[in-house]
Amino acid sequence: MDLFEHQAKELFAEYGVPVPTGKVAHTPQEARAIAAELFAAGSSKVVVKAQVLTGGRGKAGGVKLADTADEAEELAGRILGMDIKGHTVHKVLVEEGSAIAEEYYFSFLLDRANRTFLSICSAEGGMEIEEVAETNPDAVAKVDISAIDGVDRDKAREIAVAGRLPEKAREGAAELIERLWAVFTDEDATLVEVNPLILTAGGEVKALDGKVTLDDNAGFRQESHEALQDKAAADPLEARAKEKDLNYVKLDGSVGIIGNGAGLVMSTLDVVAYAGEEFDGQKPANFLDIGGGASAEVMANGLEIVLSDADVKSVFVNVFGGITACDAVANGIVAAYKLLDERGETVDRPLVVRLDGNNAELGRKILTDAALSGVEQVDTMDDAARRAAELAVGAGARQGAGNNSTAGA
Ligand SMILES: Nc1ncnc2c1ncn2[C@@H]1O[C@H](COP(=O)(O)OP(=O)(O)OP(=O)(O)O)[C@@H](O)[C@H]1O
Ligand SMILES: [Mg+2]
Repeated sequence: MDLFEHQAKELFAEYGVPVPTGKVAHTPQEARAIAAELFAAGSSKVVVKAQVLTGGRGKAGGVKLADTADEAEELAGRILGMDIKGHTVHKVLVEEGSAIAEEYYFSFLLDRANRTFLSICSAEGGMEIEEVAETNPDAVAKVDISAIDGVDRDKAREIAVAGRLPEKAREGAAELIERLWAVFTDEDATLVEVNPLILTAGGEVKALDGKVTLDDNAGFRQESHEALQDKAAADPLEARAKEKDLNYVKLDGSVGIIGNGAGLVMSTLDVVAYAGEEFDGQKPANFLDIGGGASAEVMANGLEIVLSDADVKSVFVNVFGGITACDAVANGIVAAYKLLDERGETVDRPLVVRLDGNNAELGRKILTDAALSGVEQVDTMDDAARRAAELAVGAGARQGAGNNSTAGA
């Protein structure tokens, strides 16, 4: 789970990491009130920052300085509702402006390739670290962290020195790095990034930005993390799928995709996008992985979720029978139709089914015999993808057509 900047900073503050004083606003009026408070407390400038779970906010115009509370209100009005790389801004962080002398970069992350933790530190902060690493690789220090020894003050100093932070910032940075290590381990994070880490004109070291990714697998021992989840931003169907332990991801096309296994589902997305070029650029609307053991109930839940997406005009069920044989999947589809009927959610859009692998023949026969309304079987993945894309274009005309041909058979 990724945290918003304001959540990351609240967490930092709990661990004694210095951050600017600030609060979240959902309306321009709230932003104005917070700014007025900050000015009254002695700030000479305030910053209004878009809170979205994506990077590059500054470049997109989502980070602005204000000299008065009026200006903060006006800026918040402009930033709220803004679209930054597909993320709508629902809230802004209004915080005191810091007098920045220098900007650095710091992060802790999980280094999967080396099966260890890693810290990255650089005196060249503020901009994208990937860019610095490319143009000036010597300026980016990578220091391995032993999971057993962790980070004490000496290790933190070593990191600051490796990152070539200047002498005057080193001790302050080392203290901050040691505390960020506590955030990283105690909170079960997989990423803690501060860009920029700043040295103020007054010689203080502060975290001016914060990105934190928490490890969802540790949720069972981190009760406080559930409250951090952004229910508003999460797609409601994704949330429902998660409750049912299904992997569902919303996309922006028109063909719903259900498959078994991540690999097959990923390639199905490609094949549908490719086939869709012939049909007005139809694209996957979402995808749902029913996993290895797809019972009728799992299939019904999966179909229900995919069909709840109004953007879905046709559904492509792509199954390669393995441990779960195709006859079980076919029975699952039949049972799913019945179950959805009973729930009053009768399937009203065409379904293209491709069954291959273990017991494919039997599975196909089950579906043919069931003669479900709107279900078509197609033998190959490419043809099925094409048919699903075609049906998505003309879905209106075909709904409930009762078509149950077995193309190519
Ligand atoms: N409290 C602040 N006071 C003064 N300047 C700030 C403050 N917060 C941010 N800035 C300035 O704005 C720049 C961008 O801010 P920040 O790093 O938070 O956003 P970003 O880098 O655009 O977003 P992201 O890190 O998500 O890509 C900083 O490098 C800094 O120069
Ligand atoms: Mg930043």
